[in-house]
Amino acid sequence: MSETLGMPIAVEKGELAGQVAFVTGGATGIGLATARLLAARGATVAIFNRTEARARAAVESLRAAGLAAHAYPADVADGASVEAAFERALGELKRVDVLVNNAGITRDAVFMRMSDEQWDEVVATDLTGAFRCCRAVVRPMMKARYGRIVNVSSVVGLTGNPGQANYAAAKAGLLGLTRALAREIASRAVTVNAVCPGFIETEMTAALPEAARTQLFGKIAIGRLGRPEEVAEVIAFLASPRAGYVTGQTWTVDGGMVME
Ligand code: NAI
Repeated sequence: MSETLGMPIAVEKGELAGQVAFVTGGATGIGLATARLLAARGATVAIFNRTEARARAAVESLRAAGLAAHAYPADVADGASVEAAFERALGELKRVDVLVNNAGITRDAVFMRMSDEQWDEVVATDLTGAFRCCRAVVRPMMKARYGRIVNVSSVVGLTGNPGQANYAAAKAGLLGLTRALAREIASRAVTVNAVCPGFIETEMTAALPEAARTQLFGKIAIGRLGRPEEVAEVIAFLASPRAGYVTGQTWTVDGGMVME
């Protein structure tokens, strides 16, 4: 068995055995696929969701598959809610090895008509929410001299998108947060990376009209929308001991839509 940053590299299946992974917005879509994969690789997952019933339903589905999961109602846009839920989870699960900042919303509007509320709500959830969740886990991770933080940004944070000035700004901000924090805590073997999904089949994209979908396919080299599980695979790698020499990076998972 070889060693990376003090962590044993076990076979992939059980590589997260004994670890605890926090996943925000883990009740649906990319978050749920990620929670399922991390749990399947041996982690105990804590799902933090605004909607308690959804979080519980997700946890039940994971438990039914024999996986270890716990639900924690939390609104990442509310500082007190994050603090209380993370403190409770840390108290009950005793450790945190992985944080996936996945909770996110869109409130689209053309720029001239974008309200303060639409701007504030998206920034509070997609950017400030991730900041607060990072702050809540950094101390225990640094103390343990091990941690993996993965922030779910978006290709829109790289390219911009009409009607999404709030979302693009928040997701680009998340990339800045990723890099700054990565530099600050790398010496303690805590890595911080971002993934930028393209268009993925979830509730967030279900509302796209057929014409918009067809137009989109032309821009995606692979010619189809992605699946939540395909994003989860990349997140799970970055969240694993195997990714110990990767930090401050942005991994795009978009079927070849944006190429640099
Ligand atoms: P989704 O809507 O299924 O998942 C978002 C989850 O976050 C939901 O479970 C929701 O309840 C939760 N959430 C929202 N606000 C919250 C809050 N304040 N506190 C706690 N939980 C909250 O959508 P999807 O697509 O799975 O999105 C996951 C992440 O992926 C988001 O950050 C999104 O911006 C990002 N993303 C999605 C893309 C897509 O094409 N579906 C593309 C690029 C990025």
